[in-house]
Amino acid sequence: PSSAMGMGDVVREELGSLHGIPLYKSFVEGWPQVEAFQARPDDLLVATYPKSGTTWLSEILDMIYNDGDVEKCRRDAIFNRVPFLEMKAHGVLSGVELLEKTPSPRLVKTHLPVQLLPTSFRDKNCKVIYMARNPKDVVISYYYFYQMAKIHPDPGTLGEFLEAFMAGKAAYGSWYEHVRGWWEKKQEKQLLYLFYEDMKKDPRREVQKILRFLGKEAPEGVVERILHHTSFQEMKKNPAANYETMPTALMDHSLSPFLRKGISGDWKNHFTVAQNERFDQHYREHMAGSDLCFQMEV
Ligand code: PPS
Repeated sequence: PSSAMGMGDVVREELGSLHGIPLYKSFVEGWPQVEAFQARPDDLLVATYPKSGTTWLSEILDMIYNDGDVEKCRRDAIFNRVPFLEMKAHGVLSGVELLEKTPSPRLVKTHLPVQLLPTSFRDKNCKVIYMARNPKDVVISYYYFYQMAKIHPDPGTLGEFLEAFMAGKAAYGSWYEHVRGWWEKKQEKQLLYLFYEDMKKDPRREVQKILRFLGKEAPEGVVERILHHTSFQEMKKNPAANYETMPTALMDHSLSPFLRKGISGDWKNHFTVAQNERFDQHYREHMAGSDLCFQMEV
């Protein structure tokens, strides 16, 4: 049956591959335009592995860019205010097309691993904010997202999805390589590397870090408004932030809301003891030799 939007069923399909990274086939088709993307020097790139706090960070940045004006930040859905660089889907503007229509200074969202970032961002010396989240919460959030966002193949059981995630077979590939790849580029780029768990613990301190990185100052009242407007509760009920304006054929919030729980440590409600031991072992092997540290709860 077709949906009321006339979009028909969005058929789940297997992922394609982009230079060895598993990715949605439509995104792979749009890759030539992404690779040729012309960044502008004042573009700010928001880079994350999926489900790591992209939308949260995006809303904070749009609030900073609009001096804490809540009404301005309701002007459009977050996925239009902060276009998704490599997004390409039938019948809607691609991320690149949307960005070409966006006035500067632009905020740009990407989930690309660092080695696939279009060269223009480096050539123009653009600032980048990367946000990482612990992999146990990422994989649980991703499992629910696979269910509600129909662009994904069927995730199977949680046990099956955990194996796929650990093997780097989820969309965007290995979480381990993603967080490590961006971490290693920290010196050579204008890059601020943030953690979801730090943002949960002390959002005020993290917002101040972001302001400093951007060379901006904000009066206390503005910081207060930013913190309030970007809290999980506020964002969850904000149609401009919660993705509910996406067609149901693409995202079905009745299966799982986009803003689902917004906590650190929810994996404890999902992992079995055996799954946790296996995950820990795999984590140790794949993070060996790195000084990158994650808090699995706060
Ligand atoms: S995406 O699709 O990759 O862009 O998703 P992303 O925005 O990176 O991640 C979604 C998860 O972030 C949580 N989230 C928040 N947590 C705390 N506070 C705020 N304000 C907030 N906004 C979004 C969201 O709930 C998803 O995590 P889970 O664990 O599934 O709830």
